[in-house]
Amino acid sequence: MNIRFKFDEPDTRHRLDQMSQDIIGKAFDRPDGPMKVSGQATYAAEWEVDRLAHGVLVRAPVARGRLKSLGIEAVSAMDGVIAVLTGERFLRVPAQGTENTAPHQGASDIYYHGQPVALVVAETFEAARHAAHHLALEIETSGPAPVDPEASDTVREETDRSSQGDLDRAMAEAAHTVDVTYRTPGHNSAAMEPHAAIAQWDGDELTLRGAYQMLKFNRNELADSLGIPAEKVRILAPYVGGGFGSKLGISHEGVAAALAAREIGRPVSVVLSRQQVFETTIRRSESRQRIRLAAGEDGRLTGIGHEYLVSNLPEEDFAEPVAQATPFLYAGEHREVVEELARVHRLLAGSVRAPGEAIGVTVLENAMDELAEKVGLDPVELRLRNIPDVDPSSGKPYSSNRLADCLVHGAERFGWDNRNKEPGSERHGEWLIGQGMASAVRVNMLAPAEARVRLSPEGDVTIETDMTDIGTGTYAILTQIASEMLGIVPDRIETRLGDTDFPPGPGSGGSWGAASTGTAVFIACEEIRRRIAKRVAVAETDLTLVDGHAITDNRKIPLPEILAGVAIDVVGELEPGKAQKARRQATYGAYFAEVAVNAVTGETRVRRMLGVFSAGRILNAKTARSQCLGGMTWGIGMALTEALVHDARDGHLINHDLAEYHIPVNADVPQIEVDLLDERDDWANPLQAKGIGELGICGAAASVVNAIYNATGVRVRDYPATLDKVLAGLP
Ligand code: MOS
Repeated sequence: MNIRFKFDEPDTRHRLDQMSQDIIGKAFDRPDGPMKVSGQATYAAEWEVDRLAHGVLVRAPVARGRLKSLGIEAVSAMDGVIAVLTGERFLRVPAQGTENTAPHQGASDIYYHGQPVALVVAETFEAARHAAHHLALEIETSGPAPVDPEASDTVREETDRSSQGDLDRAMAEAAHTVDVTYRTPGHNSAAMEPHAAIAQWDGDELTLRGAYQMLKFNRNELADSLGIPAEKVRILAPYVGGGFGSKLGISHEGVAAALAAREIGRPVSVVLSRQQVFETTIRRSESRQRIRLAAGEDGRLTGIGHEYLVSNLPEEDFAEPVAQATPFLYAGEHREVVEELARVHRLLAGSVRAPGEAIGVTVLENAMDELAEKVGLDPVELRLRNIPDVDPSSGKPYSSNRLADCLVHGAERFGWDNRNKEPGSERHGEWLIGQGMASAVRVNMLAPAEARVRLSPEGDVTIETDMTDIGTGTYAILTQIASEMLGIVPDRIETRLGDTDFPPGPGSGGSWGAASTGTAVFIACEEIRRRIAKRVAVAETDLTLVDGHAITDNRKIPLPEILAGVAIDVVGELEPGKAQKARRQATYGAYFAEVAVNAVTGETRVRRMLGVFSAGRILNAKTARSQCLGGMTWGIGMALTEALVHDARDGHLINHDLAEYHIPVNADVPQIEVDLLDERDDWANPLQAKGIGELGICGAAASVVNAIYNATGVRVRDYPATLDKVLAGLP
């Protein structure tokens, strides 16, 4: 039976708080954890499939041109080579759920260096790789290929503009102003598991075992690419070794494996190398951001401007939404947001780790630090003075907003009052010490989701949904929701994910997974409770379920006795409704960081870092904290080391591996503290939970870079703050 629920009204019942199993919100261990650490969880490339052939992608060595021929003769007689595939369909890879319309998605036209143009299939991976290196590609180059977003010959389009009031006048009349331009570099997702797919056909039906985040969409994308109905496609992704946005959409390995398997009549695996992940999947766009702040004598903002330039391939729709949180984070009646998109021949730009806020809030928070100094106000106090009562752009109330509490609590816990108040004035030997802070904010979303919950006559529970767990803790939190609602110990609950045969959800993206799919499980469990209540003749709201028993009127009845041999099987369907639109919904937080900067070398070491966050109900104290730890760790990388470097001539990625693209390692990460404030957001969903997956990165880097300023007096406005940039400003 299907139960549909449209979320129109705020849910003030707080049902999870009325339950008795006492597991929701607790630091419940991941059920999938032991499998993962003991190597028993099967990732996409690891499935054992009979007669498996191996494909290796061949990529374009130029930024723009047309593939004339592959030079197959050079390799077709090589040992083990089965086939070399190319052609229109091969290149039709929709980007992260967008329509399949961009010109580089369907011809032999080459639009960026590293673009896949063919697949070599062989008996072994090594034979395929060897042959791929020996193809004699013939390419006709065509015209100049702009690869620099800021170059004079690059096409730039204004793709978004919104304004309110008169920012220019506000700037002219303000007691204090900031008008600064910052730059952030491109980022790679750097998920631990490289992209991989194994395709297997049974007649006209395809099974793809892959590493993807949003299976419902990925299934449609793959079917579109192959020109077959979606019902003929099944995707399996029970375990995914990180995605960070790069696995939101179907990508080349999945389409290529499916086409090759159909062509040769055998299962085909395509596993990307780390370099291929860098060069052919997704990048976060670099950005140039101009922030204008106008404030009165007391630091109260009268105006905010956020103009930014990002890039993507010609005719691609996606532009990193840098100013996503700018309209509602701080007060100010005069506002302006302008988005410009540069058309460059670099690999596809897409969603990576909190697209928008990760780099946009970061730069806004740097500019706020600059304003605090101009006004002569404590940076925490400046923010407190500028938290609006309602969303200043739409006039809507906030669903919930504990930014002030995060700031105050964080300042106290960190010992902010004891900070170094004069930039460059605290020195221990060679090390300059400084502290910095920043606010965190990320939009909150809810998406349509379905999940099946089945209660067996014996009192065991099975949960099924195509939702993925990309390291986020989905297995744990769905198990907890059912456990709490049905009063069943987690050992008797099996959560099955990552299979398009299961009811569809929105997948893992945009921090909406837990709230959306969790609500679908909640809806199903509520219906199961109603059925049980009916059988014991009490109102559902009076029913207590705990440890496999119903407790009512001093009776304690085991569930199997109530079920009397009959299973209860319910699919919960969530449809987001008016509640989502009626309020401005976001999550908030505050970061505090202490750094030591070497006065001789300019090297920065983060010494300690604290994040305080509020994201509605916390479903699992351990996995939520881990998400925030991870986000803050990415923040350290963004602040100090992470940057994609493109060759100025043809845009090819110079640092295309984890040796040259520097993400933080253990030695770079100090003790990080995370505090999660207690909150219920009635407007978010019936769980009162908001998304927390991406919140930890949304501004984190700014706290580190602001701390570098406090330590040294050097403002680095060009991320990352590598030693050369810091050193240049040191005395
Ligand atoms: Mo996220 S960048 O929506 O996986």
